Amino acid sequence: MIQLATERLILRPYNLSDAPSLFAMNTDAEVLQYTGDTGFENLKDAQEYIADYVSNPDGQIKKYKMGRLACIDKTNGEFLGFCGLKTDEDTGITDLGYRFLRKHWGKGYATESCIAVLEFGFKTHLKDQIVAHVHEYNYGSQRVVEKLGFTLEHRFLWDGELPGRYYKIRKDAYNN
Ligand SMILES: CC(C)(COP(=O)(O)OP(=O)(O)OC[C@H]1O[C@@H](n2cnc3c(N)ncnc32)[C@H](O)[C@@H]1OP(=O)(O)O)[C@@H](O)C(=O)NCCC(=O)NCCS
Repeated sequence: MIQLATERLILRPYNLSDAPSLFAMNTDAEVLQYTGDTGFENLKDAQEYIADYVSNPDGQIKKYKMGRLACIDKTNGEFLGFCGLKTDEDTGITDLGYRFLRKHWGKGYATESCIAVLEFGFKTHLKDQIVAHVHEYNYGSQRVVEKLGFTLEHRFLWDGELPGRYYKIRKDAYNN
């Protein structure tokens, strides 16, 4: 069972009670603006997404023992957003991703959760490097990865159209 903890947060795989908050987050145009995602049509989509995400034998949780994790406020159990790792099936490259409900932006949750997730990636999964894809105009997210010690490797076109930045952090840089 995957569970990470920080000073303020618990990170764990989604469960069905997260569906209303995940649905709200993933239908907020401002949240989705730089993610390339389209969001859920309805609550049932969010429920089905969660059910598949946590139980699919070829998914991140079951196959790779990682994945985007729900970030939960320790004090009241509230779902704040997600943060976690994803390994690409074809390349084996592991990336970091995170997203929070808009009302929780600016409280340091992304940075705090990413620190725990990087620790998990480097110490538990023994990854040599972790990457992050960030939209060219997503300045808040660029600030997060730069605070964590990622460096810009190159620019690319996301899905052939969105301007993106490809960041990387290596284990030795992380240790320092
Ligand atoms: C990006 C996101 C995850 C940041 O979450 P957060 O919890 O607010 O992040 P943190 O508080 O840990 O850190 C944000 C940093 O960016 C800075 N920042 C925020 N908006 C900024 C902007 N427009 N320009 C420059 N810096 C900005 C903050 O000041 C803070 O830096 P500081 O600690 O030096 O003050 C959140 O805004 C979000 O969920 N956005 C929508 C989804 C998304 O874009 N996910 C990332 C995809 S790559």
